[in-house]
This record gives sequence, C-alpha cells and structure tokens, in this order.
Amino acid sequence: MLFTATTRPEEIWAIVIKELQLATKIVQHPFRFVNFCTSAGNQPDSRYVVLREVTEELQMLFYTDSRSKKIAQIRENPHVSLLFYHPSARCQVKIKGIATMLTQKEATKNYWENIPPEAQKAYQSNRPPKTQVDRAEKGMMVDVEYQNKFFSVIKVIPKEVECLQLDSKGHLRLAFVLENEKWQSSWLVP
Ligand SMILES: Cc1cc2nc3c(=O)[nH]c(=O)nc-3n(C[C@H](O)[C@H](O)[C@H](O)COP(=O)(O)O)c2cc1C
Repeated sequence: MLFTATTRPEEIWAIVIKELQLATKIVQHPFRFVNFCTSAGNQPDSRYVVLREVTEELQMLFYTDSRSKKIAQIRENPHVSLLFYHPSARCQVKIKGIATMLTQKEATKNYWENIPPEAQKAYQSNRPPKTQVDRAEKGMMVDVEYQNKFFSVIKVIPKEVECLQLDSKGHLRLAFVLENEKWQSSWLVP
C-alpha cells in the first residue's frame, strides 16, 4: 500500500512524487512505463512511454520522435491523461494535464547529449513513425545523420491527480485538483 485512510493528503502527495521520481531512476519500478493518452479528434489514443523526469511540482517529461502521431495530436489538443499502476502496492495514479514540447535548444542541451548513442537511434528512424513499409526490416532502418533532428521532449503540467489505493478493507480514492494555483484535495467514493 502507498497510503491508508489515515495518511494525510499532503503525505500522499509527497509519496506519489517520490515514487514517480524513483521510477525515472529504477528500471524495474512499475511507474516507469506510463499509459499516455491523447486525443485524435474525438478518438482517444494511448500508448506506453517511459517517464524520464519528474519535478517537485509534478511536471513530467517524456522523450519521443517529433514526427510521431502523439506530437501532432498534442499540437491539436494539449489535454492529456496519464495512467500509472503499481501492482505490488495496488495503487493506481491518474494524472490529467496539459502537454507542451520543449524547444529544440532546451531538449538538446539538457537531454539529448546525455542519451547514449545506441538509445539515440530510437529517434532516428529513416521514416516517420507509423509509415507503412512492405517489409518489417524496413521499419527498423535508422539514419544516424539525422542526429537530434526529430528528438522531442514532451512536458506535462498536471492539473488533476487521482490516487486509487486498492485495499481489502475498502478502497481509497483521493483527488487533488489545481485551483487558483493551489492543490486542493478531497476523498472520493472509489
Ligand atoms: C514499454 C514501452 C515503452 C515505450 N516508451 C516510449 C517512449 O518513451 N517514447 C516514445 O515515443 N515511444 C515509446 N514507446 C512506443 C510507444 O508506445 C508508441 O508505439 C510510439 O511512440 C508511437 O506512438 P504514436 O504513433 O501514438 O505517437 C514505448 C512502448 C513501450 C511498449
């Protein structure tokens, strides 16, 4: 369990931030892979991404290819929803927020240069993600000459956080909503 009925909301907030920050460092942490949901018109579209950085204000960073569908979808509609689950702690965290992209300069200076060359290839495919190819192998082709041309860092600024703690004695659901730049918490019926 990450929290109980007697844990104060401020403590729960701190626990959630701590666990999310741990997930950026510990490869096996269950919060490392997050379901990242965008909208494609009126059709929700989700995929897993790796949580790369979490600030004390709960701003979250993700790396992707700027040619990917999620980037076009965020430009069209920046409202996104993130979903985490910690199976051994039986805790779900849902975060709604606004996504933006860092400038190329910021992304390169602060992040690209720390990515090992082998991992940089994830952002150097020689065709845009989701391009149809006649053989699977063609989809694996990269062009390292691209360097960081298509590397993009998404920042999500949270506006609503919900924690659901499963418990055989009764599930617990706590919401945090940003109101006038202050986080307000309330317990909810699970
Ligand atoms: C466990 C896991 C982690 C992933 N991490 C990332 C990631 O950090 N960034 C990314 O762009 N895609 C990541 N992917 C691939 C995405 O799920 C997705 O297939 C890809 O980004 C294309 O998404 P889009 O076409 O919806 O934009 C990951 C997939 C899995 C299964």
